[in-house]
Amino acid sequence: MDRIKIIGGERLSGTIPISGAKNAALPLMIASLLTCDRLTLKNVPNLADVNLLARILRNHGVDLAVDGKRPGPTAHLGETFHLTARDIVDTTAPYEMVSRMRASFWVLGPLVARMREARISLPGGCAIGTRPVDLHLMGLKALGAEIDIDSGYVVARAPRGLHGAHIIFPKVSVGATHNVMLAAALARGETLIENAAREPEVGDVGACLAKMGVRIEGLGTSTLRIEGRDRLEGAVHTVLPDRIETGTYAMAVAATGGDVELQGARKELLQTALDVLERTGARIAESETGLRIARDCTVLEPVSIETQPFPGFPTDLQAQLMALMARAHGTSVIRETIFENRFMHVQELARLGASVQLHGDTATIKGVKSLRGAPVMATDLRASVSLVIAGLMAEGETTINRVYHLDRGFERLEEKLSRCGARIERISGG
Ligand code: EPZ
Repeated sequence: MDRIKIIGGERLSGTIPISGAKNAALPLMIASLLTCDRLTLKNVPNLADVNLLARILRNHGVDLAVDGKRPGPTAHLGETFHLTARDIVDTTAPYEMVSRMRASFWVLGPLVARMREARISLPGGCAIGTRPVDLHLMGLKALGAEIDIDSGYVVARAPRGLHGAHIIFPKVSVGATHNVMLAAALARGETLIENAAREPEVGDVGACLAKMGVRIEGLGTSTLRIEGRDRLEGAVHTVLPDRIETGTYAMAVAATGGDVELQGARKELLQTALDVLERTGARIAESETGLRIARDCTVLEPVSIETQPFPGFPTDLQAQLMALMARAHGTSVIRETIFENRFMHVQELARLGASVQLHGDTATIKGVKSLRGAPVMATDLRASVSLVIAGLMAEGETTINRVYHLDRGFERLEEKLSRCGARIERISGG
């Protein structure tokens, strides 16, 4: 298993290319199941989760060709995927695959919409909470699917196809919104989704569906109106930039000090998080090709936040902010309202000297004067990268074990950071 070694204390300066968003690329790839025609996706990041989903889709019969690899420092345009689901040969998504990545469960809606049946293992993914799928099932039932649970599998059938429905989600769910929106694209008639997730990745998938011929209104709002079609066309779509990767590197720069341009980043995708970072003392400005983030030798001011669905502060940046606040000049409070178990980074940050008290969903962080490097364990994707940020700030050497978590969601992380002056390297095996 690979490890990452960091010698902390270096300021970051230079340019970091921002990759395409993992959490948009995954549902966009799944959208290919809705049509016999070719769906071309540009700017797809090269990540373990993307590669795993590619395997799952191939298993269903999707033909995938990849081109457009552009390595190098300015390569913020990733790979181009051509996906063609002319013949779906298998409507089962097996446990061995779905248990490793939650988003693969989202094939359920498109498969039952197109093939009128699907058998999908109940999902796994990062261990950050109980993560049920009741909202997905509620939405698909409303569209006319009959759902049974059989030996750990969700079995969905719609012998006469799906039909439009009025769905009011009792809680905001990104995944349930994707699943139902994708299914509604091939359902007869109109579907109205209320309390839909407003995350930019949902908007990106909706924009792609529109190119495939679906009439869809309300993207970016919590009410989506979708007019289903019998048949969808192919399309060409570019994956939007990764706002969580953007926020992560922005926090790394705030943590170490320095001046970095995040190439390809878009401010409006993470305005709340950028506002919070500015309150800590970082300076943020739009540049011609992205966002520039800088911090001088000023003290880090403490900030208190609670995580919220978009446009609130994202849960996927909570761990990174906590790492930053570990060195703030005072006490900050972070409340996690989305996932009940998303604090596994706390005990690892403590190994580096962070002072964090946990009470239920609330963490109180007393800033310390310095962190000291130590061996730590990556536990989930965003928790792992918070340890990278802490390691960059700490004195001495930090070794992060189990870095496969990082590879799920951060493309060429060591390379991007070391080009900006960080002392970070991957140690293979061991
Ligand atoms: C997506 O997960 C993201 N994953 C997560 O990013 C992200 O943290 C999360 O949305 C919230 O923004 C992808 O996009 C691939 P949810 P998802 O359904 O869809 C509850 C990362 O690190 N819920 O919006 O699984 C659920 O338990 C990952 O990239 C139900 O109760 O999240 C949670 O409390 C981790 N019933 C809340 O809703 C359901 O049927 C929000 O979950 C579904 C969800």
